[in-house]
Amino acid sequence: MSSYLIAPSILSADFARLGEDVANVLKAGADVIHFDVMDNHFVPNLTFGPMICQSLRDYGITAPIDVHLMVKPVDSLIPSFAKAGADIITFHPEGSDHIDRTLQLIKDHGCKAGLVLNPATPLHCLDFVMDKLDVILLMSVNPGFGGQSFIPTTLDKIKLVREKIVASGRDIRLEVDGGVKADNIAEIAAAGADMFVAGSAIFSKDDYQQAIDEMRAQLAT
Ligand code: DX5
Ligand code: ZN
Repeated sequence: MSSYLIAPSILSADFARLGEDVANVLKAGADVIHFDVMDNHFVPNLTFGPMICQSLRDYGITAPIDVHLMVKPVDSLIPSFAKAGADIITFHPEGSDHIDRTLQLIKDHGCKAGLVLNPATPLHCLDFVMDKLDVILLMSVNPGFGGQSFIPTTLDKIKLVREKIVASGRDIRLEVDGGVKADNIAEIAAAGADMFVAGSAIFSKDDYQQAIDEMRAQLAT
């Protein structure tokens, strides 16, 4: 398996000084910036769009940006996010009428593509699109808010998805999002995840470096 990636979710960052906060979390050792886009329709919350992504690029953020689209419909936002500097774009199958087409649209715009499965969404929608996936994101909370508790049944789901990835023979990242903390990250990795989104567990701490170091220490054990 490839190396582990830690992706702080800026949902829990300080929006009034976002550029500085993102720069600080990268300086503290984050690998990827997780960018939660919510439309107050697919999920009951409203966040930010491509302009904020572009602003981070203009501020000088060069790290990969992982755009998690919790929106419906999704397609119209893909060209704007690609242009605004997204590297990875993931979406929920429930947000697209034509999942294969949306994945292709993301790839045609030069980004890595992924599907996001809610806690109760079954795995079968992965079956005929594995060849187009660079990332599979498993939600370990119901999407919409930071600071929720990890849903333990996700661990079995992670194992099943890891088996699917191994069977596909493809290099697909297995990302987990929601309630990830230093005290459960080792278990999540042992189940088969290799990319970890953490919002409140990092941004609620005064010392981002310490928060990320604690997670990496757990991953090394
Ligand atoms: C929830 C978002 C998550 C969220 C994670 O809908 O997709 O990325 O910010 O936050 P924590 O780590 O606090 O659960
Ligand atoms: Zn997310």
